[in-house]
Amino acid sequence: MQVVVVGLGYVGSVCSACLSNRGHSVVGVDTSSFKVDCIQRGMSPIVEKDLGELIAAAREKGLLRATADLEDAVLNSEISLISVATPSNPNYTPNLGAVDAVVRNIGHALRKKSGPHVIVLRSTVPPGTTEARILPILLEASGREIGEGLSLVFNPEFLREGSSVKDFHQPPQTVVGSLDEAGYLAMEKMYAGLPGAFVRTSTKVAESVKYLCNVFHALKIVFANEAGSVLKAFGMDGREVMKIFCQDTQLNISAAYMRPGFAFGGSCLPKEVKGFITLARDHDIQIPALGALIDSNEMHIKRAYELIARDGRKRVAFFGLAFKPGTDDMRDSPLVALAERLLGKGFELSIFDDFVKVSRLLGKNKEFIEREIPHLERLLSDDAEAVLHDAEVIVIGHAGAEVRRVIAQRAAGRRIVDLSGYADLRDSGAAEYEGICW
Ligand SMILES: NC(=O)c1ccc[n+]([C@@H]2O[C@H](COP(=O)([O-])OP(=O)(O)OC[C@H]3O[C@@H](n4cnc5c(N)ncnc54)[C@H](O)[C@@H]3O)[C@@H](O)[C@H]2O)c1
Repeated sequence: MQVVVVGLGYVGSVCSACLSNRGHSVVGVDTSSFKVDCIQRGMSPIVEKDLGELIAAAREKGLLRATADLEDAVLNSEISLISVATPSNPNYTPNLGAVDAVVRNIGHALRKKSGPHVIVLRSTVPPGTTEARILPILLEASGREIGEGLSLVFNPEFLREGSSVKDFHQPPQTVVGSLDEAGYLAMEKMYAGLPGAFVRTSTKVAESVKYLCNVFHALKIVFANEAGSVLKAFGMDGREVMKIFCQDTQLNISAAYMRPGFAFGGSCLPKEVKGFITLARDHDIQIPALGALIDSNEMHIKRAYELIARDGRKRVAFFGLAFKPGTDDMRDSPLVALAERLLGKGFELSIFDDFVKVSRLLGKNKEFIEREIPHLERLLSDDAEAVLHDAEVIVIGHAGAEVRRVIAQRAAGRRIVDLSGYADLRDSGAAEYEGICW
């Protein structure tokens, strides 16, 4: 393919070299004459392993050149990748001035070009930017419409400086958000042969994935460093502990616990988190990130309350009381905390929980229920239909498939607030459905 790469920094120079290495004909564009000259002389404009050799080889094969003339480059290409910098403004919003300018210039150039063109934003931008900000600039400048010779794509870059050439050829996945089919097809063609899944999604989701990846990687580093600092204070080698910790690919390094939903609770997590924070404090080790876990969790319970309270309806059918489905354990259950908050604010509750029901029938958790939550016990019902009877709002902490069927049948005209994410409830025909994180 005939590819233009605008912005020859870390991302752009690696992309230019790697795409030409894969057989594409690439023109790099930058306002920096130093970077343009470097490429023209077959040298890398940045310090990066293997990049100099790749650029030299691509120059020799005649598959790579660089220029400051964006218009000329666009007129002779079918696809333009934008990887200019998006530095932070003083308030930490990204400065998108360079992206705007490049998109406008590409749009103007397209007025002189016949034939379709695909514009691909690779710079990291906040969710919604491509559609809400870049699209109007592009449409106005080019005079074209999406799908009529114009495609707009957001395709995040996951490479890491220092190993970016290797990362380019072995991406974890290729994520593509496009506003039309031609955009996806062009990207499939450009990346043909790369390993990893090719994920088609919306531009907004693709933008969000990139942001979250960076935040998560930072969180992982902070977790390891705070944990390691506390462990060191106990005379331990944090690296040894983390090595074994990471060998658990079922619960630790995995998708477990990574589904947005309701707060954590139960007999272990709150207790151990508080215990670990106390250990750190006892040794004068500051752990601001881990130290904020309990507050963050409580904030989420408050968020759930505000979501339920928002429209003023007070009669609530409340499903799920134990801290997770499949157990009758209500110790430190965030659903108990939520129910108590609702009661305290004058809501009328009727509560159902499949497993608490069984436990009550067998007398198993009877003592705990009577001692710890007598105020909730009198609101517990063994009959899901009866719980729904007068309800205006249905709150779903968790519910089994059979109970969800009962709820779905009676959802019409009521509002469902889903803290767990059941697809069958979203499609149940409730007057209003809203999830806590969706
Ligand atoms: N560096 C990384 O590891 C990395 C990884 C993934 C994504 N990103 C994102 O990719 C984007 C680029 O990052 P980078 O590290 O390559 O930036 P960089 O600062 O190294 O390079 C940006 C380049 O854009 C050029 N430029 C600026 N305005 C221009 C214009 N109007 N026309 C042409 N060229 C112009 C600059 O001269 C510079 O060479 C950023 O949004 C960044 O967040 C970076």
